[in-house]
Amino acid sequence: MIRRTGTVAVAVACFGLAGFFFLSWRSAIGPIERPNPATFSPESVATGESLAAAGHCLSCHIRPGGQPYAGGYGVNTPFGIIYGTNITADPETGIGRWSLEAFDRAMREGVSRDGSHLFAAFPYNAFTKLSDDDVKALYAYLMTRPAVSSTVPRNSVWFPLGIRLFQEGWKILFFKSGRYQPNPAKSPEWNRGAYLVEALADCGGCHTPRNAFGGEKPRYAYSGTVVDNWIAPPLTNANPSPIPWTRDELFSYLREGVTPLHGATAATMTPVIRNALALSIVPDRDVRAIAIYFSDINYSGASRPDVQSMLTEAIAASSLGSGQEYDPDANLYAAACMSCHYNSGTVPISPRPELALTSSLTLPEPTNFIQVVLRGVGDTEGAPSLVMPAYASSLSDADVARLAAYLRRTRTRLPPWIELEKKVAAVRKELTAPN
Ligand code: HEC
Ligand code: HEC
Ligand code: HEC
Repeated sequence: MIRRTGTVAVAVACFGLAGFFFLSWRSAIGPIERPNPATFSPESVATGESLAAAGHCLSCHIRPGGQPYAGGYGVNTPFGIIYGTNITADPETGIGRWSLEAFDRAMREGVSRDGSHLFAAFPYNAFTKLSDDDVKALYAYLMTRPAVSSTVPRNSVWFPLGIRLFQEGWKILFFKSGRYQPNPAKSPEWNRGAYLVEALADCGGCHTPRNAFGGEKPRYAYSGTVVDNWIAPPLTNANPSPIPWTRDELFSYLREGVTPLHGATAATMTPVIRNALALSIVPDRDVRAIAIYFSDINYSGASRPDVQSMLTEAIAASSLGSGQEYDPDANLYAAACMSCHYNSGTVPISPRPELALTSSLTLPEPTNFIQVVLRGVGDTEGAPSLVMPAYASSLSDADVARLAAYLRRTRTRLPPWIELEKKVAAVRKELTAPN
């Protein structure tokens, strides 16, 4: 009897395995000669350029200092590093031999031309929602870029997860292919914003928490998570910024990288804006559509806080630090930071982010605050050409912890952050880690 059960179990397992291989098998799509760039219409190429910008393809398909789209950025995942590939039209190392059909399948199903499954670090879960015309336009744009011969580093995904076949299991569990479905109850602008965000810009790729298998948790869409040791804050009404992210604030932030009422962008948010959305190739109306979408999701229109009194309070707190020689923390702040972060008048100015208004002080964890202080803000982040010095070499863990505690205490009404010094040390340790 036992033997028989064993035989049945083995048979079932074999069938299961065979079924899985059958399910996961994809055929190769034959190579073609690189299409002549002149065969693509200039309109299609121009549309593709703007879509590639909104989809910030470049942020993952370039290595630091490398050629556009030649690949090499390492996407950090809990399972290892996966490198954005060369998607220039180079026939040998890029996608020069890919037909539109092969490109379309990669974007919609996460399958490479040779039939192997692609890792979900490539956001095909978003791109599957693109319209046919937009996939065509992206193809036209990429096929007309200069071909660059460049091979990317090998992925470092743990065994056995690195076996591409197993991606089929992930797809069965977490991937749904299908076009964007407009919401008829909403305006065309809202739907345009939702389409750009869901099908292309993939804001959820960083702002939505993931489960243990790396799948996004749809019920917690945009509720904030940690990426590359930074907090991507919630974009819902759980966002802790003192002043709500209204349509206009979101628009300026996405267009300029900084606003007087919310401060500056940093970290991985920067390439989204700098390499992409801030470039004039994404029209204002598309950036505005994204702002309309998120200002609806976060109900900023419904909450009507008294912005003026919040500003008055923030600016009143801005001068705290001087004339308080009895408080060593205030002294440290006055000596190290205040010359640049002090505001008077009625509205703070962008080059002097008002710390009371930025989410770096109001998030439940001090991560982003510590990151900014240790790393500084480079001239490619935040407002163009504005920099904040890095304090990693001049302030100790204890100093940064004191500053964080002091600002949290005097600029917000929130509970104190705990174990600050340990957290500063942890962020400092990551500073030297590769991206
Ligand atoms: C968040 C990072 C990220 C973004 C943004 C991104 N990609 Fe990728 N892409 C990847 C990674 C990583 C791979 C390789 C996946 C693998 O090796 O399985 C990849 C692979 C691809 C492939 C398959 C190429 C091949 O050689 O198999 C294509 C085509 C592609 N990307 C196109 C695009 C386009 C077009 C955009 C913008 C609309 C884009 N990607 C945006 C990370 C990204
Ligand atoms: C030389 C001027 C200068 C000094 C000194 C300075 N900062 Fe800054 N800081 C800036 C600028 C400018 C920005 C915004 C950068 C941008 O927009 O590109 C900034 C941004 C920040 C941010 C990010 C705010 C946001 O928008 O999220 C924090 C937090 C911060 N500074 C804290 C500090 C602390 C703490 C100190 C002292 C240890 C300090 N700064 C010292 C100029 C300075
Ligand atoms: C590659 C990861 C990544 C992507 C993609 C991304 N973000 Fe972010 N975002 C971040 C990180 C990290 C921060 C926190 C650092 C900072 O404040 O700049 C952030 C900050 C923000 C903030 C500021 C929130 C606050 O309260 O301080 C807004 C607003 C925002 N993102 C909107 C968007 C929108 C809209 C999109 C899609 C168009 C998007 N993000 C796509 C990583 C990302």
